[in-house]
Amino acid sequence: MNRLEALDSIKANVENENLIKHMLATEAIMRALARRFGESESEWGLAGLLHDIDVELTDGDMTSHSKLGADLAKDLGASEAVAHAILCHNERHGISCETMMDKALFCADPLTGLVTAAVLVRPEKKIANLEAKSVRKRFKEKSFAAGANREQIAMCSEIGLELDEFISIGVEAMQGIADSLGV
Ligand SMILES: [Fe+2]
Repeated sequence: MNRLEALDSIKANVENENLIKHMLATEAIMRALARRFGESESEWGLAGLLHDIDVELTDGDMTSHSKLGADLAKDLGASEAVAHAILCHNERHGISCETMMDKALFCADPLTGLVTAAVLVRPEKKIANLEAKSVRKRFKEKSFAAGANREQIAMCSEIGLELDEFISIGVEAMQGIADSLGV
């Protein structure tokens, strides 16, 4: 499968523009992480892009979220490895993250929310000049974007990244697709 097929399927299954932006942001971070580790950008990118494709279809049912998504990804022709990364990003199934791609998706997912929230409190609401260190500061404020799970973000240690580098990679990756994100 290629990226355009994945995007078509997302557009067919997801109405919420912010959810689509979240998946695009996760894709961008996953691609940047793959580059950082010399892994497959297309594989890692696809896992990020498709990981929440079932959110509206499952209507908030966390017992089926990501199971359906993994099945949909496989139906679209994604690899078992991509499907596994999608499956285990929802902790509710008790399926542990094993590969680097699994672990990268798990910690990249909530980082997008923290970065987006850090952009939206800026007067101009633009990501262009956002500094990683200001996101790092926000990370420590527990009440700021409380939905962005800090423990999960900090799991970047599992792929051998310090929090500072992980946040820098995330901010830079999202800056690279600022137009698509509308920030
Ligand atoms: Fe997500």
